Amino acid sequence: TPWQPLLFSPLLGFTLIRGTHDPDDVDQIKHLEIRDSDVFVATYPKSGTIWLQQILLLVEAKGDVTAIRNPTIVSNADIMPWMESIGTREMFITAPSPRMRVTHLQPQFMPLALSQRGKVIYVARNPKDVLVSYFYFHKMAKMLETPKDFNDFFEKFLRGDLFGCSWFDHIKAWYSVKDEMNMLFFTFEEMIQDLKSVVQRISLFLGKDLTNEEQANVVKHSTFKKMKDIPQANYKQVSEEMFNHQNGMFMRKGTIGDWKNHFTVAQNERFDQVFQKEMKDFPVSFIWDI
Ligand code: A3P
Repeated sequence: TPWQPLLFSPLLGFTLIRGTHDPDDVDQIKHLEIRDSDVFVATYPKSGTIWLQQILLLVEAKGDVTAIRNPTIVSNADIMPWMESIGTREMFITAPSPRMRVTHLQPQFMPLALSQRGKVIYVARNPKDVLVSYFYFHKMAKMLETPKDFNDFFEKFLRGDLFGCSWFDHIKAWYSVKDEMNMLFFTFEEMIQDLKSVVQRISLFLGKDLTNEEQANVVKHSTFKKMKDIPQANYKQVSEEMFNHQNGMFMRKGTIGDWKNHFTVAQNERFDQVFQKEMKDFPVSFIWDI
């Protein structure tokens, strides 16, 4: 049989990546103890995960970029890993505070103790741009299946037939627990439009008292232009076994509205129909273009 990169776990009702995730480990996450200082960034893939890693690590280092540009650091995920990845569980238990982690999991798999302690930042991105970004990511990430063509991928996205779950289920599930956890919720588009104020909100949420100059340094080192030139923000040093670096850059475009260059009129209508049906009672509106 051909290599199947995705692994559907009936136990979790969630699709994992073979070799990267272990369903038993993911199932254990719920029982982990949480500290007041723990911070989780939850995103659907391609919604700015690496951007948040960059910002949080810089906020923690009070804007000192050398903290994340150390040549021994392969990628941002080295210092702010995925909660659900194999091998990070033991590291999590023994890690010094503050433990900062990213995750693509849905809230029902997260530590139950998060209702009492710890902090969560959820970043949402308009799903048309997520779809386009995810399409290109599938071309470079070897652990994911190379898309047959754009339309095939488009349909898979709408069905939620990709790593994780459907975009619609992910955001609705996280939004519904917003008040049960200490959670900051904002959008990728807000970050594009006013990075400075998002950095301020994040610093405040984390209880970090940064001077104006320190905050300005965080912003300066988290722009698309800066991050595009940083190997750690592009998985540049990650092996060819995981990423096909010829097929594109991780920091690809970083804009709002690139979907307009990819969707046909018919695809856009179909997307809007599904969106309206799935999101009809959802109180947050998205910015689709600028
Ligand atoms: P595009 O493919 O649309 O360019 P993730 O880290 O969740 O996989 O998200 C990756 C997406 O976030 C990519 O989107 C990437 O370019 C974008 N991104 C990351 N850092 C950014 C920044 N500083 N400014 C704008 N976009 C950024």
